[in-house]
Formats: sequence, structure tokens, C-alpha cells
Amino acid sequence: MELEPQIRPRQDSDLPQILKIENQVFRPPWPEEAFQENDFTRFWVLCSGDKLLGYIIYHVVPDEAVIVNFAIDPDFWRRGLGNHLLGHTLGLIRAEGVNTFYLDVRRSNQAALDLYGKYGFRRLGVRKNYYSEPPEDAIVMVRNFAG
Ligand SMILES: CC(C)(COP(=O)(O)OP(=O)(O)OC[C@H]1O[C@@H](n2cnc3c(N)ncnc32)[C@H](O)[C@@H]1OP(=O)(O)O)[C@@H](O)C(=O)NCCC(=O)NCCS
Repeated sequence: MELEPQIRPRQDSDLPQILKIENQVFRPPWPEEAFQENDFTRFWVLCSGDKLLGYIIYHVVPDEAVIVNFAIDPDFWRRGLGNHLLGHTLGLIRAEGVNTFYLDVRRSNQAALDLYGKYGFRRLGVRKNYYSEPPEDAIVMVRNFAG
């Protein structure tokens, strides 16, 4: 499939494709209700035409942000799409005046750990048994832009 990836705010009609990816890549997946937005939520999708390739959700509270969900369709892994979406997101949050960006990631999720490391995130600490199905520690990572 020839990809012309574009990043845009999510629309209501994106939800079925988002839930399909969510259920493929996360245990436990977020339920549909968790995708509701509030004033702090930024929710972007990566798509090529009608095909949704991935999404990223983060919350912004001046002047910090936290990634709460980020995934690429497994059929399109290792094509630079996660890199593209994360890099674009970091540019957006900088433009919003965010200085510190946090996230949690499963200790065993080497793909995500490597990707975040490439973008200058460093390990801040560990939340013991933070995840379920299976139980696993979360690595807390942070990227500081100021200084
Ligand atoms: C993590 C994820 C978003 C990466 O998406 P992707 O489109 O495959 O990533 P890219 O092709 O842009 O790869 C960027 C970098 O990530 C790292 N990476 C990606 N997949 C990897 C893998 N299977 N093993 C090790 N490193 C990997 C590499 O450093 C890679 O750079 P390289 O290709 O130059 O080696 C994707 O694997 C995913 O959706 N995983 C499930 C959901 C998830 O874990 N989300 C993050 C939760 S914190």
C-alpha cells in the first residue's frame, strides 16, 4: 500500500478504526469511553486517505504534557510512522509552550523504549506493578525542553 501519511485532529468517524488498533496492540485495551476528550486532551490521528494508521493522545496542563496513548497499526510497523507521529507531536507541544513531557511505558516494550530514547526521553523512575494483563512495572520517562 502506497502511504501518504497525514496528521490531523481525530474525528468521531475515526473511532471504529482507533478501537480496532487499540484492541490489537494493548492488553488491557482502553474501553471506548476512555477515548472521550476534555479541555486538556490533544488527540491526533495519522492517516492515509480513509485508512487510519495510528493515533496519539496526550494531556497538556501548562507547562507540562503527558502521553496517555500512542499506537500504530501493527500492519504498518517499522515503516517510520511512529517516528513521524511522535516527532510531529513534540513540535506541536513545543509550540504550546510545554517544557516537560512525561510518559509511562511497560518495562518490556523495547520498541517504544527505543523510540522514546531516540527523542531524548530519559528514565525518571519506576511504578511497580503499574500495569495488568500481565502485571508489569511502568518505566516513567521524561523529556525536558527547557535548559
Ligand atoms: C511503538 C510503536 C508506536 C512504534 O511504531 P513504528 O511505526 O513501528 O515505529 P518506527 O517504524 O517509526 O520506528 C522508530 C524507532 O522505534 C524503534 N522500534 C520500533 N519498532 C521496534 C522494535 N520492534 N524493536 C526495537 N525497536 C523498535 C526503533 O528505534 C525505530 O527506529 P529504527 O527503525 O531506525 O530502528 C509501535 O510499535 C506500536 O504501536 N506499538 C504498540 C503500542 C505501543 O507500545 N505504544 C507505546 C506505548 S508507551
